[in-house]
Amino acid sequence: MSKVLLTGGMGFIGSHTAVSLIENGYDVVIVDNLVNSEEDVVHRLEKFKNVTIPFYNGDCRDENLLDKIFNEHDIEIVIHFAGLKAVGESVSLPLEYYENNLNATISLLKSMLKNKVHKLVFSSSATVYDEDNPDERVEGYKLGCTNPYGWTKFMCEQIIRDTCHANSQLNAISLRYFNPVGAHPSGIIGENPKGVPNNLMPYIQQVATGVRDYLRVYGNDYDTVDGTGVRDYIHVCDLADAHVAASKYLQNNKGCLEINIGTGKGASVLEMVEAFEKANKIKIPYKIEARRPGDVAINYANANKAYKLLGWKATRTLEDMCKDAYNWQCNLQKKHN
Ligand code: NAD
Ligand code: UD1
Repeated sequence: MSKVLLTGGMGFIGSHTAVSLIENGYDVVIVDNLVNSEEDVVHRLEKFKNVTIPFYNGDCRDENLLDKIFNEHDIEIVIHFAGLKAVGESVSLPLEYYENNLNATISLLKSMLKNKVHKLVFSSSATVYDEDNPDERVEGYKLGCTNPYGWTKFMCEQIIRDTCHANSQLNAISLRYFNPVGAHPSGIIGENPKGVPNNLMPYIQQVATGVRDYLRVYGNDYDTVDGTGVRDYIHVCDLADAHVAASKYLQNNKGCLEINIGTGKGASVLEMVEAFEKANKIKIPYKIEARRPGDVAINYANANKAYKLLGWKATRTLEDMCKDAYNWQCNLQKKHN
């Protein structure tokens, strides 16, 4: 059985990817420093899938630890999720973001090459696209970022390309995620942001369960279907499946690629509110407020390359995303009450 190392595998996307990989016959090993996750996740995954998951509580910047993991396990593929991801925080703590995200990627590449591990999937983001591109983002479009977090993704993609160029045996795919939302339908894993959520869906989830009074809708004067911002929301389980498809691709092909992972369709803030209300038969109170600085009106993925190369496309609906997100949030509330 092929073994996959998930750096940052205890987090939101990594934990869902672990489930998809296990369901597709892969063994998984996780390394995570728990800076944004809890150790309990690995126990929940093990119980849910009835497997043992070797877990290393440590930092990806620690090359010796990575060497040790590669020595102890015959790893074929690495999926590199580990990183800090809060856009606003990256603006106030740029050095922490560059230090963590870049050094983790550099140490990982060094250790992979040393230990002859030659397949890498990297968590990149739609945030690497320049704002002035057409709304439907295509992989070849101009890149450019507006915050340190985005630049770390931009730079890591470049570091990976340069390293592949210098080491022809290394193969890599940077997956540019659009807006991952939802949770596993089992309600066993999901997103649990610390503090006040910045992103739309976690905020709606907290309004739905009474943690927050109402949603602030940032602007209704954009040139969109109803004036509110449009994004490409993708169910985290679809995103997890995309990592399985990327892993399979690397087992059969060579190269260094960047691929969008989105549904190819946009939804506005008010459409998301409506979908959530309908799916869960619950009211989401909201107030229209000023635009959030730095926001664009519309962006969504052109998802053709993912289908053409990986044979992957999103299958879950907005209704699935909203139902599963609510189910998870209700479980979380129960745990805390
Ligand atoms: P997350 O914070 O839930 O998971 C990241 C995990 O990495 C956490 O468990 C954290 O403890 C761990 N980590 C951070 N730095 C580490 C280090 N130096 N060594 C070891 N572990 C470390 O985030 P997520 O939403 O699951 O995102 C996973 C990846 O996808 C991140 O790289 C993120 O930037 C990227 N991404 C996320 C989104 C999104 O909206 N969630 C969108 C685009 C890209
Ligand atoms: C954010 C990040 C982006 C990241 C993406 C991944 C910022 C500035 N950008 O982008 O780097 O790749 O998440 O998921 O944080 N909205 C509200 N009220 C809220 C929250 C959001 O109206 O409380 C609106 C926003 O104005 C936007 C839409 O909802 O129109 C989506 O916002 P969000 O979930 O933060 O995602 P992005 O803006 O795409």
